[in-house]
Amino acid sequence: MELKQNADSGASYAHLELFQPPTAHRVEFEQALDQVVAKVGALIPKFGLRNPRIGAPGSLQYQFCIPDEWVASFWTGQLWLAHSLTGVSSFKNSARMRRGYFQTVLEHPEWHDHDLGFLFSLSCVADYRLTGNRHARKMALRAADFLAARWRQPMGFVMCWNPMLRDGPEFGARKTGTLNIDSMQAMALLFWAAKETGQQSFTDIAHMHLETSRTHLIRDDFSSYHAFEFDPRTGAPLGGFTHQGLSDESCWSRGQSWAIHGFAQAYLYCGVEIYRDTAAGMADYVASKLGDDGVPLWDYDLPSDKHPYRDSSAGAITAAGLYALAQCFGAGPQAETYTALADKMLLGLVKNCDIAGNPEAEGLLKDGAAFVDLGRADNMLPYGDYYYMEALMRAVGHTEFFW
Ligand code: GLY
Repeated sequence: MELKQNADSGASYAHLELFQPPTAHRVEFEQALDQVVAKVGALIPKFGLRNPRIGAPGSLQYQFCIPDEWVASFWTGQLWLAHSLTGVSSFKNSARMRRGYFQTVLEHPEWHDHDLGFLFSLSCVADYRLTGNRHARKMALRAADFLAARWRQPMGFVMCWNPMLRDGPEFGARKTGTLNIDSMQAMALLFWAAKETGQQSFTDIAHMHLETSRTHLIRDDFSSYHAFEFDPRTGAPLGGFTHQGLSDESCWSRGQSWAIHGFAQAYLYCGVEIYRDTAAGMADYVASKLGDDGVPLWDYDLPSDKHPYRDSSAGAITAAGLYALAQCFGAGPQAETYTALADKMLLGLVKNCDIAGNPEAEGLLKDGAAFVDLGRADNMLPYGDYYYMEALMRAVGHTEFFW
């Protein structure tokens, strides 16, 4: 893969090849992207070796990751994106200084879950794709091996969560047979590993996981369950439920975003039309629920008597996924429809949630909602930041990332 480099990091990304149709808001998005790249550079000395975890409600300062955190790679991913745009070596050096963190993850199989996809796509796959670094490739392939080893029959998916002592016996037992929608993003690590090694089993496992997800997590109206439980002994489907959404039958907006991005990305890898069309149906569902400001509330079924917390991270992930979806269609009316929806959502973030220009802010977006029922709303979130940057880059014409 080749990301175009722009050594002076100025405002012009005009040399990039654009897919059709182009965004209608190029100037706003280029300005926002310039500001984001400047912000990422300014945060390098402030963060040092720490990785942002979450901002406390209303805070402009980040709390930072401890060793076993699913969010640890999103800052590294931003650093690699900034390096790909600018060619400036401090971005690369700062990203690579974090390799020890990911090496430690590999050495602790008891920490492993579907989040291996987030952790290694944005660190080691990114490093290898941008620099050809062989050690990074080896680490990413090792992570893909661990992820593939979580494939479980008879349920037909890569095991997502691990039962933990803190879960209590009921939720712990439930997790063993549970598929979650967050895992859609992890399939890219398997597709990448298959392409890299020629090993068909990575692709087979990704397809089986995607098909089980499509069948059980996505409802007939293209809204989604956060999670779906199976009997781990027989594989019998038991039913959908939520962990972070409003209710079992509601549509958690970040879950919807993971699947739109994940299915679009899967299509870009393998060309299976049902993946593209599933992402399109899910995008149409979002369009039918989205308010005028373009920023999703944290659940698409939120009743009017509940506090209307936004989730800017769902907006950023969905916008990035919609540009990828438009790329799946190439040109024509569907590409135009999904580019326009992506533009609406991204512009909503630029206008309502972007805090990159605030010198006090350690993140790029306010108004994230990590887990509302646990009191985690009104947060800066590193995944919101990462996908905001990815969406801005996709909006101005980049089509190659680390997924
Ligand atoms: N655990 C993934 C998420 O909160 O979206």
